[in-house]
Formats: sequence, structure tokens, C-alpha cells
Amino acid sequence: MKREQWNSKVGFILAAIGSAVGLGNLWRFPYVAATNGGGAFIFPYLFAILTAGIPILILEYTLGKTYHSGAPGVFAKINRKFEWLGWLQVMVSFLILIYYVAIVIWVLCYLGFSFGTQWGDDTAGFFYGFIGLTDSITTIGGLKTNLLIPFIVVWGIAAFIMYRGINKGINLACKICLPVLMGCIIIIVIRGITLPGAVDGLAYMFTPDWSKIAHADVWVAAYGQVFYSLSIAFGIMLAYSSYLPKEEDVVNTAFLTACCNHGFEVFAGIGIFAILGYMANVQGVGIEDVAAAGVGLAFVVFPTAVNALPAFNTLFGLLFFLSLFTAGVTSFISISQCVITGIEDKFKMSHFKSTTLVMAPAFVLSLIFITGAGMYILDLADYIANSIGIVTCGVIEVVIIGWLFKPEELRVLANEHSNFHVGKWWTLCLKFVTVIVLGYTTILNFITYFTSGYEGYPMWIGIIFIAFLVVGTIVFTAKKNTVPTFYDKPEYAPVYGKSKEV
Ligand code: ALA
Repeated sequence: MKREQWNSKVGFILAAIGSAVGLGNLWRFPYVAATNGGGAFIFPYLFAILTAGIPILILEYTLGKTYHSGAPGVFAKINRKFEWLGWLQVMVSFLILIYYVAIVIWVLCYLGFSFGTQWGDDTAGFFYGFIGLTDSITTIGGLKTNLLIPFIVVWGIAAFIMYRGINKGINLACKICLPVLMGCIIIIVIRGITLPGAVDGLAYMFTPDWSKIAHADVWVAAYGQVFYSLSIAFGIMLAYSSYLPKEEDVVNTAFLTACCNHGFEVFAGIGIFAILGYMANVQGVGIEDVAAAGVGLAFVVFPTAVNALPAFNTLFGLLFFLSLFTAGVTSFISISQCVITGIEDKFKMSHFKSTTLVMAPAFVLSLIFITGAGMYILDLADYIANSIGIVTCGVIEVVIIGWLFKPEELRVLANEHSNFHVGKWWTLCLKFVTVIVLGYTTILNFITYFTSGYEGYPMWIGIIFIAFLVVGTIVFTAKKNTVPTFYDKPEYAPVYGKSKEV
């Protein structure tokens, strides 16, 4: 069976940017920056991008294009003993996949509610009523039938894209969504910065609070933001780059992806905080009283800001939710592809079969997020995936590559077809800086969760999520292939170790 390949370099770059630019950029970054030192956050943030974000992106692009397989295949080819890390990354992606879709569904509904700003004045009451929120995570409250049609529509769109494959599906979707997203954000930013009070919002986001720089939490937040935002360490970029030809220039492409992604998030943050500044001004409250992240920003605060705009309220509601929708879809499909590639590679299945095998259970499991407790479960799943899952995968990945193997040989592979060569700093970042900061972050996050939990949710629910990741990893790693696959072919012998020298 022939493996698909991106039909152009631009196609791959658009898909990688589409994956990176997601909800994390729009609703997470502005708030993380504002509450972690504002303008001073730029230092830990840039440091994290340069020492971890870009080096890991180069690493993942190199591994993907060299081994032509998703995360499990890449680590299996490096050494069969490490296949499990690939499956752990795939499981983290699967967990993200099933809750990310719920947000895209809410966003689709809010696109509709934008007509005539149907959320009214009590935006919080409207949102909680709309999702039928119960009073605790353990009170499930039944399926919300009002969400069933959007649920089917979003899954239908996702399935349509995924069944069509890399070029006819993902590539095409990114070519349509990214210009729409960019257009929406440009209009939002222009409108935002021309509103009275915008400057207060921007001051809140950018005024440096140097005292924060010394706090470990700020560095932890910067690393967390960079990993999630760049879609690294949870298998996505490995899967995408596995469809690249070996001759691809990965160094340039990694810099380009990172610049577009982070440039976009800072740019979008300006628009969002400018509008929040205006809203605080209209309401006569402090900007810190209205600033929020995540679900609260998108479905409660922003609709209130849209209400407060002097004109074109429907239009700005549409622009905001259309940007969330397009950003969400291009990331969602990349998360799906990570899981599909993992299955397709190991079990040598047809694209149709592997897509069905991933999308069907994800469809069923994601039903839990359209129940009355959906938002609580989503909040906890997101926390476990980010604060436990991604950082754990990231630190193990850099330890394996940096310490157990020969990163200098990988650097040769990265530079082989690249115009711009990475120097020894790359190896040093992976081996030392990232291992130390990420190792510290991971240990801290584990201790925090197992001593204090998260937002008062019962600990056992988080443990179920962790168990889900671990059991899935064990099952897929242990499962033997029924047909011979690349795992068994000698030409795919690992680059490292005794079998082959580069
Ligand atoms: N990178 C994606 C986001 O930012 C997952 O949402």
C-alpha cells in the first residue's frame, strides 16, 4: 500500500500552521500572557520557543520525514523498546480529540446565536442554560438534545475531511480555513484597537511585571503554552511530517511554523484585549474583572463584549466565532490524523478502515461532553491532557532522544536538506535546557495534582483519565501485528544503535 505524500511544500506548511493555530492561540495565550507578567512574559515565552518549541519542532519534523511513520512507528524504529511512548502520545491526542470536538460544536452553535446576538444580556446564564450545566461533575444530567444536530454536523465535517485523506481532505480544509481565519482576525484587531479604552486592555496584556519573572510558575506557564500551541510532544507533528519526502527542508519549515503560530497568537491577543479594554471601559470596571480564558472568555466574556460594541454587533459575533471555528477545525483534524496515522502504520490498514476505527469510538465517547456535566469533564480532561499528558510525553521524548541516543546524528539528518543549518545549540537545548525545565514542570504538575487535585473535582475522575491513557498505551503496544508491516522490514532498521550508522 502506497503511503500518501503532501503534494506540495505549501500544503504541508499550511497544515502544520493550521494544526498549531488553534483554540490555544485565541483563548489561552492572551490570558496566560496577561496573568504571568504581561510584557515581562515575553522573556520566558521567547525562551521557551527558542529552547524547546523550535528545537522540538525540528526534531519531530526530522523524525517524521526520516522514518515515514507516526509517533508509535517513529519510536519503534528508533528502538522497539520505545514504541510505547508513541502510543502514549497517540492516547493523549485521542483524549484531546474527544473533548476538542465539543468546543467546536459549541462554537458552531454560537455562530448561529451571533445573528441578532441571541445570547442576550446575561451571557453566563445563557451559556450555562444552553449546555444544560448541572451543579457538579458527578451529576451527568443526560444528553442535551439541542446539541445533537450540531454534534452530528461537526462530526460529519470532520469525517468528510479525514476520509478524503492528506491532500484532498486536510490540505484542502487548511487552504479554505486559514485565509478565512486570518481575514476575521485582521478585522477584529482593526476594530479592537480603534475602540475607546482599547489602550487599557493592551496595557493590561503588555505592561511588564518584572517581579513575576523570578517565579517558577511563569516559566512553567510559558513552556505549557508553547507545547500545546505548537502541537508538539503529542504526536501531531510526527504524523504530519511522516507524509513529507525525505528531501524536505525541515529547519526552515520549523522556523516558519513557529513564527506564524506565535506571531498569530500575539496579533490575535491584541484584538481580544483591545475589545476587552473597551468593554471594561463601557461597564466602568477594571480590565482584570473582565479578563478570562478558555470557555469563560469565548462564551461568556466575548459575547458581552460584542453586546457592548457600538455597531455591527452581529458581524463581530460572527467574525469571532468563525475565527474560533476555523482555528478549531484545522487543529481538530490534525489531532485526528495523529491517531489515524498511528493505527494505519502499525496494523497496515486501509485509510478507510483506520479512519473508521478512530472516528467511530471517538464519536461515541465524545457524547459525554454534550451531557449536563460535559463542561466540567472537559475542563478536567483538558487539564490532565495538558498538565500531565503532554509534559510527560515531552520530557520522555527529549530524554530518549537527548540522552539515550545520539542527537548529534539527528542534527545531521535535520541539516541534510536544509538551507539553514542548526548548530550545536540545538542539541544542547534538547539535552539540557528542555530536559531540566520540562522535567521540573512535569514533577511539579504531578505533585500539584496528587496533593491538591484540580478545581475541586474528585481525584478519582482524573485518575480514570490517567488510567485510560496508560491502559490504551499498554494495549496498543502489546498488540501484535497480524500482517507484516514496516515494523518488521529490515530496510527500516533503526538509525541508531548497532544496526545502522548514519
Ligand atoms: N495547537 C492547537 C491549539 O492551539 C492544539 O489549539
